[in-house]
Amino acid sequence: MEKIAKLAVLANPHARDENRPDRVTEEYMKNIRYWLENFSELAFIAEEDEKVVGYVAGEVIGKIGIIEDIAVARTHQGRGIGSMLMKKELNALKAKGAEVAMVEVHYKNSAAVPFYYGFKFRISGFMRNRFGFGHDAIILEKILKS
Ligand SMILES: CC(C)(COP(=O)(O)OP(=O)(O)OC[C@H]1O[C@@H](n2cnc3c(N)ncnc32)[C@H](O)[C@@H]1OP(=O)(O)O)[C@@H](O)C(=O)NCCC(=O)NCCS
Repeated sequence: MEKIAKLAVLANPHARDENRPDRVTEEYMKNIRYWLENFSELAFIAEEDEKVVGYVAGEVIGKIGIIEDIAVARTHQGRGIGSMLMKKELNALKAKGAEVAMVEVHYKNSAAVPFYYGFKFRISGFMRNRFGFGHDAIILEKILKS
């Protein structure tokens, strides 16, 4: 969980722990534990040399599959790990009955938007203050039904 807390901060700049800036807050870790415990079939990790270098966690609410978090260690980005995790996630969301996949990206992570476009997500909107005051989100969606 410690390694995931460090990866999670990459995807969640709003949840950075002030006392330990290399990881997310304990409060945010509660979310991650919730997803891992309740949607374990929607959570995947990537390992290299027995170290966790990436993870993805999701949730299905009705017909909507939500990609809650996806992050790859900075040292391992750009090597296809994120794509591998995303493929697994999209298949798992479909298997759980989701017809649409959705993700809310913190504005500071807008560099990840092309990554989602590679999977045929499209921007469907934005939400001001989504993650707290000043922490706006870009919303992307993709139809899963084929
Ligand atoms: C977004 C992220 C998960 C992608 O993982 P990755 O392992 O680096 O991605 P891949 O190596 O599989 O790249 C897949 C494609 O996305 C593109 N891509 C990935 N990150 C990109 C970026 N920051 N800017 C532009 N393109 C990017 C790659 O160029 C690649 O395109 P290609 O297939 O045409 O070569 C990773 O960069 C990351 O953890 N970023 C920080 C956290 C974050 O922003 N998470 C998403 C918001 S919740």
